[in-house]
Amino acid sequence: MIKKAVIPAAGLGTRFLPATKAMPKEMLPIIDTPTIQYVVQEAVDSGIEDILIITGKGKRSIEDHFDRNFELEARLEEKEDAIWLNEIRRLSDMANIHFVRQKEQNGLGDAICYARHHVGNEPFAVLLGDTIMDSVIPVTQQLIDTYEQYRGTVIAVEEVPADKVNRYGIVGGKALSDSILELNTLIEKPSIDKAPSNLAIAGRYILTPEIFPALAQTPKGKNGEVQLTDAMLLVLKREALFAHRIEGKRHDIGNKLDFLKTTVEFALKRKEFAGPFLKFLEEMIEEHKK
Ligand code: G1P
Repeated sequence: MIKKAVIPAAGLGTRFLPATKAMPKEMLPIIDTPTIQYVVQEAVDSGIEDILIITGKGKRSIEDHFDRNFELEARLEEKEDAIWLNEIRRLSDMANIHFVRQKEQNGLGDAICYARHHVGNEPFAVLLGDTIMDSVIPVTQQLIDTYEQYRGTVIAVEEVPADKVNRYGIVGGKALSDSILELNTLIEKPSIDKAPSNLAIAGRYILTPEIFPALAQTPKGKNGEVQLTDAMLLVLKREALFAHRIEGKRHDIGNKLDFLKTTVEFALKRKEFAGPFLKFLEEMIEEHKK
């Protein structure tokens, strides 16, 4: 049973400046809900009970978001606003949420090292804090189901266009079924000619404790950072690794265009906005056609 998850949220968010100068990218809201709240919800919906969020400098608002806020609660009580009172209390009660700070910006692999003590000797889920998944079955649940079947590392993947393989970790391997591959290679942000496929790592993982000794041996790689992908390649020497093609849509909130598209998509799904917002979009399109 996988009950623990790690959410790395320590990155600087340089792709979203200036908003992220003093604000964590994981707190960027899609409409009214911070990105990381969707990520925590996915973990909870997948049966996770214990979450470690890896933060860093300037990320205090993430801790505050999942903490009690007695002053706000008292004010909502006075106003007899039961709906928001319950929602605000639910937020601090979603799961057992813990925090640890990454001291230096040494990459995703280095951030995961900080989870060693917390997760101990169990497999655990990893959900990148700037990526929202929109799916019927939570993507982390999909990976857990595959883990239960194959008992090894499971990496979420999705196809990307060939000209975008250099933005992702790319995997290669043998298909075991329509959705599962057994991997024989992984490479972080390869050029098109070095990419083993167009299957990109999509920001969700089930890792085994073998990742920790592997990370300890992983030298700095792409962009001078310790890459999780490089450490998983070391794990491959000792254990089988699997990739799971996800069913669902990935939204990378750290990317401005994706952020905009996600906001529009999610607004159109909300009952209170769908009608007037669609009308507004239609008017905008007409205006821009001129
Ligand atoms: C990270 C991982 C990469 C993965 C990507 C998904 O890269 O290192 O393997 O494909 O997330 O978003 P980053 O986007 O942090 O550079």
